[in-house]
Amino acid sequence: MKIREDFLPLSKPSVGEKEINNVLNCMKSGWITTGPSCKEFEDKFCELTGASHAIALSSATAGMHIALLALKIGQGDEVITPSMTFASTVNMIAIRKAKPVFVDIDYDTLNIDADLIEEKITSNTKAIIPVHFAGVPADMDKIIKIAKKHNLLIIEDAAHAVGTYYKGVHAGGFGHIAIFSFHPIKNITSGEGGMITLSDEKLQKDLSLLRFHGIERDAWKRYGKGGNPEYDICQPGFKYNLPDMLAALGLAQLSRLDEINRKRAEIAAIYMKGLKDVTGLELPGIAEYSHVNANHLFVVKVLSMDRGLFMEKLSEYNIGYGLHFPACHLLNYIKEEFGTEKGMLPETERAAKKIISLPLFPDMKNDDASYVCEAIKEILRKY
Ligand SMILES: Cc1ncc(COP(=O)(O)O)c(C=O)c1O
Repeated sequence: MKIREDFLPLSKPSVGEKEINNVLNCMKSGWITTGPSCKEFEDKFCELTGASHAIALSSATAGMHIALLALKIGQGDEVITPSMTFASTVNMIAIRKAKPVFVDIDYDTLNIDADLIEEKITSNTKAIIPVHFAGVPADMDKIIKIAKKHNLLIIEDAAHAVGTYYKGVHAGGFGHIAIFSFHPIKNITSGEGGMITLSDEKLQKDLSLLRFHGIERDAWKRYGKGGNPEYDICQPGFKYNLPDMLAALGLAQLSRLDEINRKRAEIAAIYMKGLKDVTGLELPGIAEYSHVNANHLFVVKVLSMDRGLFMEKLSEYNIGYGLHFPACHLLNYIKEEFGTEKGMLPETERAAKKIISLPLFPDMKNDDASYVCEAIKEILRKY
């Protein structure tokens, strides 16, 4: 086959006139840091998820940090989570001096295996952090049942889950804390950014204080006409707020969510059809429960050749790729600090050696996806 001349990246944000105009208007408005656009972004996120409150942040990592802090999870506590996640999830548990307790995944879907959670619960367990992997929801009914039985908190890592539904409920709509990411690779982006959704009013207040220096009122209200610039601080906080310039970008993206996710689904469907029954390759498994997949990533498993060589060959065909994710329990500091080791999580380790993410983004053309399918078939045939 003929090799394409231009490089097809793993991902590229879909930034059009709407995004550019929103950001320009914000820049011209005279208020570019956290303010009305941020508030609108939060309100729209409540509408999407069904949560009562939303808190916009500089990143999902910041959200996980203050969520763990506000929930008083720290030294001596254990937090159950999959090892097949971005290190951010686990880093924040470690930063809080709590212990990540890893649960194996379902090999096909790469999502946490909810049936293996209960055996990992001890008297020190405080919370479960399921990750809605690649846009497919974790099995929330099972997780909520276990959490209720053992009086545990749930924090959904919904970084991949804008547009993800589980049995008709959007991620973040289960009454627990959920944390979304707007990093440029994500389904919608604000450049960088994140959002916590939740339904507990007291917690919402605590998190809002932690987001911004511990100061109660928003700056745009303090500095508006007739505003009172005085403030007091009752507890220290971080500087994790989302500027309006970025919220304006996020709002434009959110208004296009259906279009964006429809296109992602179209590309994923081309991969599913074009790569079906290809020897040496495994396609993503489909979760058995009713759900809507936001198609954040398209992760295949390479069985018949060395993954490093496969990546090299993809590069020769001008195709980008990603690795989501190296297993967290085998990262150096996790092994050293928490005594994790090879062999602990057989399904995670079996998958982690073979996974590779294929290009998937809303502005990708159907022909791009067909090209990837043909290239993969040729590579696997030849090597
Ligand atoms: C599963 C998961 N959790 C958390 C994060 C952190 O998101 P952010 O980059 O917004 O901090 C990511 C980002 O890639 C992620 O993939």
